[in-house]
Amino acid sequence: MSSSQAPDSSAGNGPAGKATNIVWHHSTVTRAARAHQRGHRSAILWFTGLSGAGKSTLANAVNSALFEQGLACYVLDGDNVRHGLCADLGFADADREENIRRIGEVAKLFLDAGVVVLTAFVSPFQADRQRARALVDNGDFVEIHCAADLEVCEQRDTKGLYAKARAGTIKDFTGISSPYEEPEAPELRVDTGGQSLEDSVAQVISYLEQQGVVPAPGEG
Ligand code: ADX
Repeated sequence: MSSSQAPDSSAGNGPAGKATNIVWHHSTVTRAARAHQRGHRSAILWFTGLSGAGKSTLANAVNSALFEQGLACYVLDGDNVRHGLCADLGFADADREENIRRIGEVAKLFLDAGVVVLTAFVSPFQADRQRARALVDNGDFVEIHCAADLEVCEQRDTKGLYAKARAGTIKDFTGISSPYEEPEAPELRVDTGGQSLEDSVAQVISYLEQQGVVPAPGEG
């Protein structure tokens, strides 16, 4: 469904099926008008990967590069969002599903607001990522697999969480006691376990140039 389209009003319900008698209100300022004013289109850059794979680092570095070029951009980061919007959620499968559902919906709002939104969540389940993708049009959702082997992530253990997971102090830990389903056909696979941050940023920016999200050099 297009981000500018209203949900099927015949349903008459919110996704949780609790709110009835709600009618979609169309904004007079459209996504297209925002893109025209800002000089770039919006997109969702969905970074997924194990804890410690470098999602937040890469998303933040790409965000800085986009900001430098004058684009409207914003990072939604798992660790941060779980302090507020998703503070009521843990790491059981159902909680992760709800976490990703909310982020998909928020990212869709950012898309409509004309912003390049970068989401950095483990988002371990294929079905949850697919649901987020299905909320928007083809081309608006760029899945970026931050591919780093579990061994690399565990060795980095920047937050000390793998050690705790191995010790059994943290349960349902992705890669140890909870699964990570690798993306089957992501728009981009970035070797965040092996290559430099600089190369990873260049790979993402180059893809965004090809897709016309970021003006190609000499264009803008
Ligand atoms: S998700 O699975 O629901 O997408 P999210 O990205 O929001 O996860 O949060 C992951 C972050 O929470 C990790 O980077 C890590 O710092 C922390 N964390 C705490 N407990 C866990 C756990 N059991 N599994 C994975 N990450 C955890």
